[in-house]
Amino acid sequence: MKAIELTAPRLDAFRAATVATPEPQRGEVLIRLRAASLNFVDVAVASGNYPGPSFPFIPVVDGAGEIVGIGDGVSRLGVNDRVTAHAKPRWIGGRPRPYETTQMRGLTLPGSLAEYVALPANAVVPMPAHLSFEAAATLPIAATTAWNAIRAADVGPGSVVVLLGTGGVSIFTLQLAKAAGATVVITSSSDEKLERAKALGADHLINYRSTPAWDAKVLELTNGLGADLIVETGGAATFARSINAAASGGTVFVIGFVTGTEATANLLPIIVKALKVVGNNTGSVSDLHDAARAIAAARIEPVIDTVYSQDQAAEAYAHMAAGGRHFGKLAFALSW
Ligand SMILES: NC(=O)c1ccc[n+]([C@@H]2O[C@H](COP(=O)([O-])OP(=O)(O)OC[C@H]3O[C@@H](n4cnc5c(N)ncnc54)[C@H](OP(=O)(O)O)[C@@H]3O)[C@@H](O)[C@H]2O)c1
Repeated sequence: MKAIELTAPRLDAFRAATVATPEPQRGEVLIRLRAASLNFVDVAVASGNYPGPSFPFIPVVDGAGEIVGIGDGVSRLGVNDRVTAHAKPRWIGGRPRPYETTQMRGLTLPGSLAEYVALPANAVVPMPAHLSFEAAATLPIAATTAWNAIRAADVGPGSVVVLLGTGGVSIFTLQLAKAAGATVVITSSSDEKLERAKALGADHLINYRSTPAWDAKVLELTNGLGADLIVETGGAATFARSINAAASGGTVFVIGFVTGTEATANLLPIIVKALKVVGNNTGSVSDLHDAARAIAAARIEPVIDTVYSQDQAAEAYAHMAAGGRHFGKLAFALSW
């Protein structure tokens, strides 16, 4: 089969390759991949900033396609089913153990820039019917994480949710939070992106460049109470402000490190406000099922900034690595 390989930890070290087409083993399905989508983690892997890959390998974690082959013992899925593939095929549900989280597609397992992939049937999830392959390919990491954030804080009508930046996870959380009836505050470096977030339902917009003390603005907007959920995608530069912006009993959902991984914060507000500082490692196949169900029910349309072809991998990676140039997701339409 045809594939794109990454040959070295560099954002431009892609090459077209022909590799063996996988055969679905017992309990597996063979998927003809039709689309893929990029996440921040793909850039971290390709930059040599994420442990695990052995070069060359087929990159890009997230993908979607149709089932074209079935191994023995698979009854839940059939040929022609349209599915999206979970990032960590061994993590079906519950609390993750190392055995379940160390194997990841586009890292230690073949990724999505390929014609086919064979995966355990238990690790693939039917696509919401209203989505294109490109849209469905954006779900495994970003939508699952957004869904877990909503669930961690029990977000519902009246909840206040703060989102940092307008990347893939933030925009999915915006859409799910609005579907749940929450009030959403979103920050961005760009007024134009803030307007796009408003069109998706964001209630309050803060430009974190012109208003660096965005945490004070969140407190002002909430009459001093703070937010019930802050999705901490920023990391080093934002963590302390997220703690400050949280309401008593609120949840700071710690997932990202776009500004670095080393943060310092005053512990007192965490103690005094009895905050829940919750880490998250994407989620399980079961979490992806729940996210897909919510997206289907609310008819959420994933927001895709740009669709690339597989031959434009270096361009797509450079787009994401630039940081701040995209709104929502970057995707690949695969056509060999
Ligand atoms: N642990 C998990 O479960 C998990 C799952 C998914 C993602 N993540 C992590 O979460 C982070 C975001 O992921 P993503 O896929 O949404 O990334 P992304 O699409 O690349 O979005 C990153 C966004 O961060 C914003 N940003 C940059 N500097 C900022 C700052 N100082 N303050 C506030 N926002 C800032 C930018 O928004 P503007 O352009 O609007 O300024 C940028 O578009 C990454 O670190 C990723 O690795 C973790």
